[in-house]
Amino acid sequence: MSRFATLLVAWQRRHGRRGLPWQGTRDPYRIWLSEIMLQQTQVSAVIPYYERFLAKFPSVERLAGADEDEVLALWSGLGYYARARNLHAAARTIAREGFPGDASSIEKLPGVGRSTAAAIAVFAYGERAAILDGNVKRVLARCYGIDGWPGEKAVEAELWRRAERLLPRRDVETYTQALMDLGATLCTRTKPACERCPVARLCASRKNGLWSKIPAPRPRKRLPTKRVTWFIAARQGSVLLEKRPSPGVWGGLWCFPEKLVGCKLRERLPTLEHGFTHFRLVISPVLCEAPAKPACNGRWFTLAEARAAGLPAPVRRLVESRKQLGC
Ligand code: ADE
Repeated sequence: MSRFATLLVAWQRRHGRRGLPWQGTRDPYRIWLSEIMLQQTQVSAVIPYYERFLAKFPSVERLAGADEDEVLALWSGLGYYARARNLHAAARTIAREGFPGDASSIEKLPGVGRSTAAAIAVFAYGERAAILDGNVKRVLARCYGIDGWPGEKAVEAELWRRAERLLPRRDVETYTQALMDLGATLCTRTKPACERCPVARLCASRKNGLWSKIPAPRPRKRLPTKRVTWFIAARQGSVLLEKRPSPGVWGGLWCFPEKLVGCKLRERLPTLEHGFTHFRLVISPVLCEAPAKPACNGRWFTLAEARAAGLPAPVRRLVESRKQLGC
């Protein structure tokens, strides 16, 4: 075993995270669900969602039989909703064909990339497969002094080669969990805790003091701004919401209409901003009086119904500020 792997495995046994709700099972459904929720999302944010989701959908068959609306409602607030739509679509395939049995077939499921497929195969089947998520890229780039932005093809390819080469022949589960835990808890983006790091003595960035420069950040591009108006029709404790078309931004989630013919404007509310990967959305909410039969594909929701529906974060913020809505 590489020195790196030996040190990590020993560290994991003493200091790694234990007792997370998706540990201690080999059920590929539960592991798959956890790995999808954990994509770009921290453990502490995922735990309550994971538990609610499994309580509602304890098996892949139950998930396959659900309406997309129910799935999105349980995902509401976790972000990156394509994950929920892909999960639901994949559940329908898995309910028919069974769970794929190795990393390369898991990778064919929608929403599952190479690293996620490997993590699922490691934790469900003990397969020997290398992971390389954002945290692991940072750990390997620092330890082995791999310069450049990991989003760049050549840098990423080098990181994959390194990840493959380091992979031990046994204790793959412990090793994989150790890599994840090291990146999440010690080798953090800012202020890494090198004094507690099991591989500090091997780490190139620690030797040359370059940890803050590695990995290099994404080259800065100014993101374009999109502006929209949201028409908030609120009456007697109900709000008018429209389902967003799918595919598309927030597809399948419920939003305030962006066009509402024949409504009477009452009041402008403060603007909200929401950052997407490729643009910045500036939202101008306007309170208005809707005609009795508004000319849109909207539906009236009581505030309680709205809170239980699949809402993007800025819609949720508005729905939860009743005072602003004046209802
Ligand atoms: N991040 C991604 N997968 C994880 C896992 N299984 N445990 C903790 N953090 C993770």
